[in-house]
Amino acid sequence: MDNILEVIKNRRSIRQYLDKPISKEVIIKLIEAAKWAPTGMNEQPWGFIVVQDKSLIKELSDSAIPYINKIIEENPKFIRYRKRMRVKDFSIFYHAPCVIIILGRVDALFYQNDCAMAAQNLMLAASSMGIGSCWVGMMSTMDKDKWFRERFQIPDNYKVIAPIALGYFENKDIPIIERKPPEILKYF
Ligand SMILES: Cc1cc2nc3c(=O)[nH]c(=O)nc-3n(C[C@H](O)[C@H](O)[C@H](O)COP(=O)(O)O)c2cc1C
Repeated sequence: MDNILEVIKNRRSIRQYLDKPISKEVIIKLIEAAKWAPTGMNEQPWGFIVVQDKSLIKELSDSAIPYINKIIEENPKFIRYRKRMRVKDFSIFYHAPCVIIILGRVDALFYQNDCAMAAQNLMLAASSMGIGSCWVGMMSTMDKDKWFRERFQIPDNYKVIAPIALGYFENKDIPIIERKPPEILKYF
């Protein structure tokens, strides 16, 4: 798949992964792809945390669940996720063998946009290599958690922007998520 439009259209959020590690060489390639994203004033205000230790991924997921439950309870829009959170052994990362967290350096004017661009580059590069991904935004709810910041040694001036689950997957039964027609408000 070397046509960029094909790569863009074929990327799906993957929520079931094979128990197969991603090599360090491939992870470096993904981060390389991320770093070529455009950034406001070319600040490149990001940091990457790579987690492949299964027990640490589980610990991270377990620690995020109370934060996510709180948001679900406070916001009727999210009630439909309540059942999913109660499934035994549920992982917010869907048991992916790798999680890459992209953190933004908050002094940069557009750090959230910059990191989102990097995340999309990373996910598209992964997809082109047959690796599935899912941006797990729910994890960002634990950005200020003391255990999390200490365990991952996160500098105070960095904020979680894009936690991404990654892994190889069986390329079948992946639902096609239709897109609405884009709303072109005006065409001058
Ligand atoms: C900012 C952001 C946050 C997201 N958070 C989650 C999440 O917490 N859990 C999840 O399963 N998917 C999450 N997703 C994935 C979306 O649900 C998914 O992109 C959307 O349904 C479209 O499906 P597709 O990616 O397969 O095209 C997130 C995506 C984005 C861009």
